[in-house]
Amino acid sequence: MNRSGGSTSSGEVITILLVDDIPEARENIKKMIAFEPDLKVVGMAGTGREGVAQAKELKPNIIIMDINMPDMDGIEATTLIREAVPTAAVIMMSVQNDPDYLRRAMLAGAFYFLPKPVAIDELHSTIRTVHTRNKPIAAQYTAMQQAAPAGAIRAALSSTPAAEGITRQGHIIVVYSPQGGVGCTTIATNLASGLMKEGIRTLLVDADLQFGDVGVFLNLQSQSTIVDLASSVEDLDTELFDKIVVTHDTGLKVLLGPARPEMADVMKANPSSVAQIIQKIANQYDFIVVDTSRYVDDTLLSLFDIATKIIVIGMPTLASVKNVRFVLDLFDQVLGYPPERTMLVLNRVPTDRNVQKLMIPNEKIEKFLRRPIAVQIPNDEATALNAMSKGVLIVAQRDRSRSPVKELMQLSELLYTQLMGSSEAEDGSSAGGSKDGRNPLSNIFKR
Ligand SMILES: Nc1ncnc2c1ncn2[C@@H]1O[C@H](COP(=O)(O)OP(=O)(O)OP(=O)(O)O)[C@@H](O)[C@H]1O
Ligand SMILES: [Mg+2]
Repeated sequence: MNRSGGSTSSGEVITILLVDDIPEARENIKKMIAFEPDLKVVGMAGTGREGVAQAKELKPNIIIMDINMPDMDGIEATTLIREAVPTAAVIMMSVQNDPDYLRRAMLAGAFYFLPKPVAIDELHSTIRTVHTRNKPIAAQYTAMQQAAPAGAIRAALSSTPAAEGITRQGHIIVVYSPQGGVGCTTIATNLASGLMKEGIRTLLVDADLQFGDVGVFLNLQSQSTIVDLASSVEDLDTELFDKIVVTHDTGLKVLLGPARPEMADVMKANPSSVAQIIQKIANQYDFIVVDTSRYVDDTLLSLFDIATKIIVIGMPTLASVKNVRFVLDLFDQVLGYPPERTMLVLNRVPTDRNVQKLMIPNEKIEKFLRRPIAVQIPNDEATALNAMSKGVLIVAQRDRSRSPVKELMQLSELLYTQLMGSSEAEDGSSAGGSKDGRNPLSNIFKR
């Protein structure tokens, strides 16, 4: 990996398409790149639509895209390019350094967000770093384009076994609610789906061993469940795990819970078996989302112990807030977890103003629970029931600006930025470098 930010040593030339409606802006970027032997501008477009057409024709390695353009803006153009030319990495540029733009750019599939104006060194190092990072992803797409029809590519990418030698981040996100029916499974399934991005491997585990219903939510039927792994926990390998894990048609990997409640007994012989299984395969995935049952037993405690983040779900009612407080006290005072290990999410929040007046105000909840409410997901029974009856996820809906799709995606993005951002900073393995030594990719993750 290129850490210096200097030119690539292999003699490789990175091809670049510039998309900006202002001719001087395009020329300016072109001039900044002109004397770099490994960077080559192969095309320039003045509108989003033209950008999409040129991307399809030229298949550049990198596309530098302005956000604000007449006819089709950079976000829409990026969405279309990601579908048509998935090997190209988009660097979004904008004078608006607004978190909302950043999130929208990321959702559209941009690789990086570069605020305007940009310094020449930062531009060079960003292009090289993004290219280095995108290369393995582009190579997988190219290999699959040769072998598979276009529609299967996304699913195949996420279902490809991790390449040998690649150790993934293995962030374990445990979703828990002390009360039943609050939406643990709804949130776990939608969160896992929302965390799926190109090149990111996500696994969903149903650890509600008695009454798990992840299979129902995702319309998945399989004979293979976690029970098949119970006797092999000690010598579990990826080959066996891959045989048991089920692939949802979005490409999401799912380890289903026991098919019948009494089968949970097999797992009880070793209460920490679920946690052990997860730990053994964690480095094959970037995120492992775990749905749990509300009963606090040794299985659940062992899952809390291995969690990177515990999402505690509550509702803005007295009973729910009281129960959540018990759990948070257990974490803070008995188990000694640092507060940042937990994230508080409210679900089924009433949208009717008259009902809202009767609910506990957020400030009171936050004060009583000693942490902020990270995300509030509105109550929307029609959407939840409709999704459930069709066996599709709420976040699979096209209109992502609508509640509660918006809030569920917001939760995924929040976790993505927190976890991928902090691990980038901590492990020091970041690529490239700007003048101040910061990873030039860091501002896409940092909030
Ligand atoms: N934001 C929401 N708005 C409306 N209905 C919701 C919302 N979230 C979840 N639901 C509905 O609430 C019910 C319970 O949700 P879910 O099964 O996810 O909860 P749970 O905490 O996993 O329950 P259990 O204790 O049975 O495991 C489901 O019918 C689901 O569709
Ligand atoms: Mg559930």
